[in-house]
Amino acid sequence: MAQAKTLGQFIIEKQADFPYAKGELSRLLRDIGIAAKIVNREVNKAGLMDMQGEAGSTNIQGESQQKLDIYANEQFITALKSGGECCILASEENEEIVMLDTDVSLDAKYIVAIDPLDGSSNIDVNVSVGTIFSIYRRQSTSGRATLADVLQMGVNQVAAGYVIYGTSTMLVYTTGKGVNGFTLDPSIGEFCLSHPNMKIPKTGIIYSINEGYYVHFPQGVKSYIKYCQVEDEATHRPYSSRYVGSMIADLHRSMIKGGIFIYPVTAATPGGKLRLVYECNPMSFVIEQAGGRATDGKNRIMELDVNSLHQRTPIFIGSEQMVLKAEEFMAEAVEEEMSMGLAG
Ligand code: AHG
Ligand code: MN
Ligand code: MN
Repeated sequence: MAQAKTLGQFIIEKQADFPYAKGELSRLLRDIGIAAKIVNREVNKAGLMDMQGEAGSTNIQGESQQKLDIYANEQFITALKSGGECCILASEENEEIVMLDTDVSLDAKYIVAIDPLDGSSNIDVNVSVGTIFSIYRRQSTSGRATLADVLQMGVNQVAAGYVIYGTSTMLVYTTGKGVNGFTLDPSIGEFCLSHPNMKIPKTGIIYSINEGYYVHFPQGVKSYIKYCQVEDEATHRPYSSRYVGSMIADLHRSMIKGGIFIYPVTAATPGGKLRLVYECNPMSFVIEQAGGRATDGKNRIMELDVNSLHQRTPIFIGSEQMVLKAEEFMAEAVEEEMSMGLAG
């Protein structure tokens, strides 16, 4: 059997496609791949190494940090710092931006935003977790880069992707020219091209939402869930429901099998729960590049204004036809509310 192409070989081959083909973005992607392998190693043996459980601290969102959240964050910071291509790192685990432009990298042109470990509450129960990353070009041309360089719309991303530490570990990424997936071959320690040119099915039969919060969902979401549950042979309903609690795992399944993932506004999270900069924008870039759709129920995620580092948004993401259908229910509910408002 021919040896599969490694991530490193693939990145070098594709380098000429990049708008600024000086090898910096290639090196940056390679560094992310290296950090991901180190995180993978620790995730794999977490139960043996006292790496499970809470670290006893909370992050900026008030969420309890797991030991592996902190470890993964440190690995990415170290890899990007030594690589020298990235001037600022924005992370779920750091309240402020992390300046990486030490002497070696005064000229660093890239900004990276990461969720170092997504779904980290699943570590202790041996369920898939992931890493999400997003890469921008710095916009300012002089002095040190600032927060303003980070707060760019999702459409400005030059690359984005995720790593899923699952039954096998995969790295999936896009540079705006389709999506490619690489599976880690532990015997050689390399990510190998296993899923070239990934396409998300246009529709599917799985919906993914934390239905436990049903009572707190907006009417449009409630109506869409009911639609998913109605029997209809032509559209293969009722659909199946799957919710892992790691967005990465739910979306990776949707990439392969088709489906929709929704995290709407709820009574407890009136602005949505998931973060725009390092969760929703990168996943939207990947899913759109695979032929899917990602909105906040109305507007395209990647065109939302970015005002703060840890900004949240509701998200409807996955197979195009399913997301469009959910948006129909959202729009109908708004219309109904308006007409009731007018009548009242
Ligand atoms: P993180 O572990 O990075 O904080 O992200 C967890 C996210 C997401 O991955 C998942 O889909 C969602 O939070 C689960 O939230 P609920 O438990 O509220 O459903
Ligand atoms: Mn997350
Ligand atoms: Mn996280």
